[in-house]
Formats: sequence, structure tokens, C-alpha cells
Amino acid sequence: MHALIIGAAGGIGRALLDQQIAAQAQGHIDQLFAVSRQPKPSDIPAAVEWFQVDGTLQGYQQAFRDLESRDIKLHHIISTIGWLHQGEWGPERRIEALNEAQLAEYFAVNASLPILILQALKPLLPKNELAVVAQLGAKVASISDNHLGGWYGYRASKAALNMLFKTAAIEFKRTHKQLCLAVIHPGTTDTELSKPFQQRIADDSLFTPELSAQRILAVIANLSPEQSGGFWFWDGKALPY
Ligand SMILES: NC(=O)c1ccc[n+]([C@@H]2O[C@H](COP(=O)([O-])OP(=O)(O)OC[C@H]3O[C@@H](n4cnc5c(N)ncnc54)[C@H](OP(=O)(O)O)[C@@H]3O)[C@@H](O)[C@H]2O)c1
Repeated sequence: MHALIIGAAGGIGRALLDQQIAAQAQGHIDQLFAVSRQPKPSDIPAAVEWFQVDGTLQGYQQAFRDLESRDIKLHHIISTIGWLHQGEWGPERRIEALNEAQLAEYFAVNASLPILILQALKPLLPKNELAVVAQLGAKVASISDNHLGGWYGYRASKAALNMLFKTAAIEFKRTHKQLCLAVIHPGTTDTELSKPFQQRIADDSLFTPELSAQRILAVIANLSPEQSGGFWFWDGKALPY
């Protein structure tokens, strides 16, 4: 079994990678790959093949072409790519706070990049073996569950991600019958992404990256190809779109 973590240096990404490193040590994973904008940390074992990319789509495409040229197929892929705040930009509470550049960046990174990464991964996905591609999403992307408002760009871009993955799942069912595409909400997790918003979260609702990583892997372990295109809570229950 070959596994890949994309966005491996982030809070949840690193915790996922650590668990996959343990799974590799136990013999459950033959080859483990990681893709990140960051260089390979010195404490990551040599057995993990690390691709440092520049964060552009072309960078990811180049990394995947390298794997393709070696005839490698990937069975277990998780992408953590996503952003909520950066620099001056934080989630918009009111319509007056919306601006074109920030909205475009939300859609570019949270929706377009993950689906174009899936496009680039297609040659690496086995056609006759079980495989999963999971992208981390967010519960706030649920349109029917939006009772609070706010966070316009993050919500909308993650909702777009859900639609893109659902649409791809329908198409891939024809050619990759054993593939499951999934968007998974990790739960509010103690990482850089949630840091500015943690004071409003009860302690028992803020999870460690290690716990969230365990839960994400457990959700994936229970998914089957018939469930491709779903949007999942960290406990494995389906979330409404
Ligand atoms: N933390 C939470 O409470 C929470 C709640 C709901 C959903 N999520 C979702 O879970 C995922 C992981 O979040 P996290 O909490 O681990 O946050 P994080 O530590 O900020 O990690 C997010 C990762 O996404 C990648 N990324 C961010 N901006 C990017 C860009 N412009 N271009 C390419 N890659 C970019 C980076 O990977 P590299 O640096 O390795 O390239 C980054 O480390 C995100 O998709 C987030 O929306 C998190």
C-alpha cells in the first residue's frame, strides 16, 4: 500500500504524517510520500519520500509526474490544504469586510487547488484496487447547517470544494470503481489555523492534532467506494451539504 500526505507540514498534516510513519514502521504502508511547501524536517525518517513544492499547481504537478514516471500507484491520499487567515486577512464577519482579492484567494486555495491536484493525481490512482483520496474540509461549509453567518469566503470556498469533489466522485465511479473521494471535517483542532479563534471554543471542543489525525484515519478506514463523494464529520457521520 502506498500513501501520500499533501500539506504535510501543517498542524493536522504533520500529525497525520506521524501516524502514517508509525503505520509504515508496522508494515501497513510500503511507501510513504509527503508533499509540502516546507523542507523535510530533520526528524522525519529517511523512509518517507518528501517533495518540497512552491505551493503553485505546477509544483504539485511536477511532484506527481515524478511518481508517475516511476509507475507508482497511490492507494491512500490525504490533502490538508486550506487556509482561514493570512496576514491582514481574516474571516469576514460582515458584508462590508468582503474584498475581491481575499475571496479569490479563498477559492483558489480551498477549492481550485484541491480539485486540480486531484486532476493531477488521476494517473497515479489505481483502477482495480481500493483507493481513497480525502481532502480536509470544514463543517461551516454546510449550507443547510449555516445558522450563524459570517466567514463568507472560507465557508463558500469549502462549500465549492464539496461540490467539486462530489462532481468528481460521479465521474470517477465510471473509471475507478474502487476509488472513494471524501471531504472530511477534522473538528476544531489546535493548530495555527484555529489559533486566533480559540478563546471562544470550550476546552473539550478543541482537539489536539494527534486526536484529529487519529479520527480522520478512522473515518477513512471505514469508507467504501459506494460512499464516494461524501462529506464527513470526524466521527464518521455524514454531514449535510
Ligand atoms: N484546525 C481546525 O480547527 C480546522 C477546522 C476545520 C477544518 N480544518 C481544515 O483542516 C485542514 C488543515 O488545517 P490545519 O488546522 O492543520 O491548518 P494549518 O496548520 O494551517 O495547515 C494547513 C496546510 O495547508 C497547506 N496550505 C495552506 N495554505 C496554502 C497555500 N496557499 N497553498 C498551498 N498549501 C497551503 C499548508 O501545507 P504545507 O505548508 O505543508 O504546504 C498548511 O500547512 C485545512 O484544510 C482546514 O481548512 C481545520
